[in-house]
Amino acid sequence: MSHESTVRSFADEVHAIPGGENLELCYSCGTCVSKCLIQQKVEPDYNPRRLLRMVMMDMREEAFENPTTWLCSSCDLCYAACPQEIHISAVIGAVKQLAIEAGYTSPLTPAHVDTAACFACGTCIEVCPYKAISRVSGEVEITDRMMKGTTLIVEKEFAQVDPNLCMGCGLCASSCLASCITLDGYTDTQIDDQARAVDWSPGWPAASGADWSPQVLVFVCNWSVRAEADVAYLSAPPDGIRVVRVPCSGRVTPTFLVTALQKGVDGILVIGCQPGECHYQEGNLVEQARLAMTKNFLDLLGIEEWRVQFAWLPTDSRGALSGLFEQMIGRVRELGPIAWRPELG
Ligand code: FES
Repeated sequence: MSHESTVRSFADEVHAIPGGENLELCYSCGTCVSKCLIQQKVEPDYNPRRLLRMVMMDMREEAFENPTTWLCSSCDLCYAACPQEIHISAVIGAVKQLAIEAGYTSPLTPAHVDTAACFACGTCIEVCPYKAISRVSGEVEITDRMMKGTTLIVEKEFAQVDPNLCMGCGLCASSCLASCITLDGYTDTQIDDQARAVDWSPGWPAASGADWSPQVLVFVCNWSVRAEADVAYLSAPPDGIRVVRVPCSGRVTPTFLVTALQKGVDGILVIGCQPGECHYQEGNLVEQARLAMTKNFLDLLGIEEWRVQFAWLPTDSRGALSGLFEQMIGRVRELGPIAWRPELG
């Protein structure tokens, strides 16, 4: 057998990985690029069409180093639009698998687990859309406060994040029962700081009586805001609205909501990508289910569930944000100021 016949091309290797089969069907129309939010919002050099060309042309190292290999979050907006019905994220996933096997690493900052606090419940493993988390066991350093800060080394189970698979959606952090997972830039404290950093008008907490006007907190998924009109509107929201940016609506926890209401916010709006368009696959649906549970909890506390609302912002939105904000303020105005009874804490 000749040497040539035993050496597989880069394209053959990608083709051999499940998902990489339809690589050669691409005729470089560029529809995928026109649909891609990463190219539009984050990385101008992101280009699935070009990556597929690199594979076909045996440009292995260039493909492994290309941002497209690492930044695709498998939102699949391009899949629905591709005239050749190529599952492009699956092809990119095949390239990424080969890159990892070749020793390349993701440039993204992964979620971090405090292994001492983790009790390996596995919730993060279940919610991670990228199968980036696993349960492992090993030695962990624990500070025992009962023993005056003595440091102990214990053998225990904990969650471990694969830095090459984590896409930084934050679903693990918002689902963690031990609050031991953090995402750089979007820790609980950093999100809380965002809420505090913007000036309320008028004042904080809200004025009551005749001076009352609705104070609304809005959590907005970064990926959902695409149209220029919406971006401009968010940069200067109307009086009484405070905006907190999150990587995905799925990063919003019930604790953020309840704490904000407890502090005197009259209403909360969570804005996410519409179903089928979440950049992190299903973070929006996880959040929707979570909000339904939170509303039940509010009901038990005697707080009107209408004070917390979830809204989708479709990819083709053109200035829809202002309407959503006005609708929310109108609803809260009808409900009046929140009455958080002191006995609720
Ligand atoms: Fe927008 Fe998940 S990325 S809701």
